[in-house]
Amino acid sequence: MISIVGSGRVGASIAFLCVSNAIDDVLLVNRDRKKAIGEALDIASAIPADSNFSIHGTDDYSQISGSDIVVVAASVEGYTKDRTETMDHQVKMIKEIAQKIKQHCPSSIVLIISNPLDVLTYFFQKETHLPRFKVIGIASNLDTSRFRYYISETLSVPQSSISNALVLGEHGDSMVPIFSRVKVGGNPLFSMIDNRDTITKDVRNYWKKLRNYKSRSQFGIAKNTFDVIDSILHKKEIRIPASVVLEGEYGENDVAMGVPVVIDQNGVTEIEKIKLDDTEFSSLKKSSEKIRKDIKSIHS
Ligand SMILES: NC(=O)c1ccc[n+]([C@@H]2O[C@H](COP(=O)([O-])OP(=O)(O)OC[C@H]3O[C@@H](n4cnc5c(N)ncnc54)[C@H](OP(=O)(O)O)[C@@H]3O)[C@@H](O)[C@H]2O)c1
Repeated sequence: MISIVGSGRVGASIAFLCVSNAIDDVLLVNRDRKKAIGEALDIASAIPADSNFSIHGTDDYSQISGSDIVVVAASVEGYTKDRTETMDHQVKMIKEIAQKIKQHCPSSIVLIISNPLDVLTYFFQKETHLPRFKVIGIASNLDTSRFRYYISETLSVPQSSISNALVLGEHGDSMVPIFSRVKVGGNPLFSMIDNRDTITKDVRNYWKKLRNYKSRSQFGIAKNTFDVIDSILHKKEIRIPASVVLEGEYGENDVAMGVPVVIDQNGVTEIEKIKLDDTEFSSLKKSSEKIRKDIKSIHS
């Protein structure tokens, strides 16, 4: 079973993909029970006729017991200028949710989606003491999709011709698109563009641009999360950047941030060590310092 805590735009979109692809049973958990039941009833009409699975909604956390995966997409309030704007309230929320997941479902793999992503991934793991490789913050793969999108638009090439695109570090203003490894049609991206700064800014500000046209993003993160769920449930290895608590990897301790990982049915199995150029490495350092500063600013 997949439990999804938070039945808003993002939680419901992830549930829709899981149900319409008949991947497993889904339980929506929301503080407002009516919302969870309403979304579940709506999504239930998308269950394929040959599916073995169903969807239900509740506000009762004890029902998540036995879940293989718990997705946390809850949010007590939105932000307008920066993902860390509502950090104090979001950290309080994640600590409460963490206790409930630890009580009812301590052996599940937990995917954190809520923002500020890296700070909440860190506090969830510290609060529960679940193995750090079973608490995975999902966002850098979304940022990578946005990076690929801008490369594709800038060069007028299909995304299928782009390989090795990666965004690391904070899911926030200090995120680091890694240009040095990207190939387009087998050739280094470096030789094709001279506007790295513009693309970096565009990737970082994607969500702000989107908000000029609609309230908030939902489908990109839903698909990127679904792909991780699919890899866990179907024992298919996936290589993506994701946020995990670091213990020395990339020279970092006591912080969670986006790094290249391998995920399978056991959660993260490896943090890949990849070569970065000097500029990328120092940008990543700045990004980890920014997240660490945010973590330290929280008064527990
Ligand atoms: N990782 C990424 O790349 C990424 C991308 C997009 C969005 N996000 C983040 O994902 C989160 C959700 O976004 P959204 O647009 O879906 O927000 P939303 O539409 O406001 O939904 C949030 C839901 O969480 C529920 N909730 C709040 N506290 C809860 C708790 N303690 N237990 C259970 N449910 C609770 C709310 O319930 P009520 O209905 O009672 O208020 C609401 O239904 C946000 O933090 C957003 O920033 C992350």
